[in-house]
Amino acid sequence: MVDQKTGEIKSIAGPLVIAKDMRGCEMYEVVRVGREGLMGETIKLIGDLAYIQVYEDTTGLRPGEDVIRTGAPVSVELGPGIITNFYDGIQRPLLGIKDQAGDYITRGINVPGLDPERKWDFIPTVKNGDEVVEGDIIGEVQESKVIVHKIMVPPGVHGRVLEIKSGSFTVDEAIAIIDAGGERRELTMKQRWPVRIGRHFKEKLDPEVPLLTGQRIYDTFFPIAKGGTAAIPGGFGTGKTVSQHQLAKWADSQVVVYVGCGERGNEMTEVLLTFPDLDDPSTGEKLMERSALIANTSNMPVAAREASIYTGVTIAEYYRDMGYDVALMADSTSRWAEALREISGRLEEMPGEEGFPAYLGTRLADFYERAGRVVTLGREKRFGSVSIIGAVSPPGGDFSEPVAQNTLRVVTAFWALDTNLADRRHFPAINWLTSYSLYLDFVKAWYDKNIDKEFQALRGEMMALLEKEAELQEIVQLVGQDALPESDRALLEVTRVIREDYLQQHAYHEIDSYCSKEKQYLMLKIITRFYQEVKKAIDAGIVTSRITAMKVKDEIARMKYTPNPDFPKRHEELIRSIEREFEALRNQG
Ligand SMILES: Nc1ncnc2c1ncn2[C@@H]1O[C@H](COP(=O)(O)OP(=O)(O)O)[C@@H](O)[C@H]1O
Ligand SMILES: [Mg+2]
Repeated sequence: MVDQKTGEIKSIAGPLVIAKDMRGCEMYEVVRVGREGLMGETIKLIGDLAYIQVYEDTTGLRPGEDVIRTGAPVSVELGPGIITNFYDGIQRPLLGIKDQAGDYITRGINVPGLDPERKWDFIPTVKNGDEVVEGDIIGEVQESKVIVHKIMVPPGVHGRVLEIKSGSFTVDEAIAIIDAGGERRELTMKQRWPVRIGRHFKEKLDPEVPLLTGQRIYDTFFPIAKGGTAAIPGGFGTGKTVSQHQLAKWADSQVVVYVGCGERGNEMTEVLLTFPDLDDPSTGEKLMERSALIANTSNMPVAAREASIYTGVTIAEYYRDMGYDVALMADSTSRWAEALREISGRLEEMPGEEGFPAYLGTRLADFYERAGRVVTLGREKRFGSVSIIGAVSPPGGDFSEPVAQNTLRVVTAFWALDTNLADRRHFPAINWLTSYSLYLDFVKAWYDKNIDKEFQALRGEMMALLEKEAELQEIVQLVGQDALPESDRALLEVTRVIREDYLQQHAYHEIDSYCSKEKQYLMLKIITRFYQEVKKAIDAGIVTSRITAMKVKDEIARMKYTPNPDFPKRHEELIRSIEREFEALRNQG
């Protein structure tokens, strides 16, 4: 049945082909369309009609041309060679990134995701006679300068090792022979997995371990857990891409999968230009040495964009299964949703809100559901995680539109970028009043143990002050600052310090770009101390204007630029400065 003529093209509408005589075809099956064998996927079946989204330009296709079943779902190739690679949405390697404006290998289904020629040095970690089960690691390959690729027993296979090799092999050559219940099975370094199905694991764990990012607004105020989900919605220019890059660089994950969707016109997607240049502070290499990039330029067929997030998350799950913490960034999911809308429109489905299909929410939920921290398959107890951080770019920055709303419903942390803050150059422009994280309670025990028992309480106090500030600002708008009592005016001095000296963090500053958890805690202690002294001073009858003029405030403003390792000492000095200057202030009366 497979690879034989099954049906023929009935009609073509952009990326959608309807084929007849397709009875027996499965949903999400890969088919070859037309004389050139363009790659397509069945996305709707009615009677003997198959609706096929085609992953390549359909110009030139004609009714009557053959459509051939392959019997296989859309899958990715998993093995050495993914890291440092650039792919399109269905794992076709992109070539000549810099000079060819993101051109990709065109036409034809047989473009392998993994280079079939390239040899890898395989170092076995099992020996003859060992019993192995699916997910067990049988060897290692140095995949890039920084990533060791674990070769795992593929799904559904277990048995006794008859032969294990060592040396240089391609991904298609046998590296082991297994006695699988009497049947000799050759294992290679390559696996396949259908992109629309989550890879299996033993157990999903509670999100109790934070994914630290070195970014104060997240770690302190709105943390994400390893295996967690977060969305960054924001209008144009509010900092979605900068935030995603910062997270890719600094989050304590070992592997990054970055799915970029072109934002404008026909130009090359920004991800292809900027991401490969990013440095990796943790290794001193390029960030690409531990990343895989999936790029959708807007001149690529829309169906490939629809598939790209599934390709990305499948690759992320594969590295999770090796025992890595993986961060998946999608910038932006709005472009993905638009692809979904376009295809739905071609299918003439009943449109939901703003033309998006009614199943937009389910699709988003299915995608984010693939995040998680898990116990992997295999006999050795291994932990791995996939954290998903999706940018959302609502038109006009209006969060009431369907993609933002449906995303908000499924993610556990919500980092709302704010146009006003970005205009005021308050970066990262995350609005602290509308953002939230439901991981706060989950990670509390970890924070208590690994930062300080006091940390989340200090965070709570800061947040309460910021909320109070928002109330006061409303009053100020109505009646002016002078109408506020002295204690409230002093409070606004403190919240300004929180906003400018704590929440604002310069992505491009050598030191401030990354703030360790220890430094975050000590910075909070300094601000808390300042707040306590302000209260004492006000109680002693000192007017706010004298607090405003204090020298120590400049010192506090500069604390973010003290290197992380030097900070404990700086903290001591600053606390002493604060005490000294307030004492002097009180003594002057
Ligand atoms: N954390 C940050 N630190 C410093 N500048 C920032 C930060 N976030 C955003 N910016 C500024 O905002 C500009 C636009 O950010 P970008 O991420 O490209 O926006 P978006 O992807 O939302 O359109 C950046 O070029 C940069 O100047
Ligand atoms: Mg952007």
